[in-house]
Amino acid sequence: MSSQTTYRELNGVECGKAVRARISAAAAQVHAKRGHAPHLVAVLVGEDPASQTYVASKVKACGEVGFRSTLLKEPADTTEAALLALVDKLNNDPSVDGFIVQLPLPGHINEERVTLAIAPGKDVDGFHPQNLGRMMLGLPGYLPATPNGIVELLKHYEVATEGKHCVVVGRSNIVGTPMGILMSRNTYPGNCTVTIAHSRTKDLPSITRQADILVVAIGKPNFITADRVKQGAVVVDVGIHRLADASRKSGFRLCGDVDFDGVAPKCSWITPVPGGVGPMTVTSLLMNTLKAAQG
Ligand code: GUN
Repeated sequence: MSSQTTYRELNGVECGKAVRARISAAAAQVHAKRGHAPHLVAVLVGEDPASQTYVASKVKACGEVGFRSTLLKEPADTTEAALLALVDKLNNDPSVDGFIVQLPLPGHINEERVTLAIAPGKDVDGFHPQNLGRMMLGLPGYLPATPNGIVELLKHYEVATEGKHCVVVGRSNIVGTPMGILMSRNTYPGNCTVTIAHSRTKDLPSITRQADILVVAIGKPNFITADRVKQGAVVVDVGIHRLADASRKSGFRLCGDVDFDGVAPKCSWITPVPGGVGPMTVTSLLMNTLKAAQG
């Protein structure tokens, strides 16, 4: 018997569409009740092409679900003080339900100081320590967009998680670490035994091969190859990279942290790149913004 399985896609576009339809209906209710739509502000500092693309997709998604959105573009040489003043203004602007400051910020600006300055009630990225602490304690708050988007994706496709070994590769504050917390919670999706692997992990392939659910957020193109994945695993790829490709009109193609072509045949479920986690991060941001507008 061949060990090849027929994999199914955890499709973030399809799942995002279903969730966004519900958001759209709820947004119309908010609009009718209070006379104005949920309003998200996105702050973009500098000209980073990837950040420009991400922010553009967030703004576009707002329009599609009936939200108001405002994009504030600040020059790359904006001072930290000026950015903190802008954050303060948005914190105190009653017409703004929630806002995000797109990361990464230019090197001369301290991301931690900016994140801490955002009012937790408007922190729809869920990056403020108060929201991360509430998540940790299972209290209501804003969940970080990417991990929550992945949870929604697993829920949508009814992927079994209880008792599974979930290996998260990467320990960032915004993806890896919160992902581990969400997958170990006593709920569905959750109840996993979680391992967080990182750059100092010894013999990473032997760890990733134990994963029933493998979440990869390490930021290295095609890092997870087929020999690092267990037969039948669920694989979630958070990475997105532009690789030069002269045969494309754009001059590049997108790939993730997972070598999709090699790994997919071993999987029960796998996210494509693009069209997997990315659209769910945006959907999650919409969920949080709706929650902020519902008060
Ligand atoms: N940079 C990469 N992902 C994100 C995100 O979800 N939110 C913000 N603000 N910046 C990011």
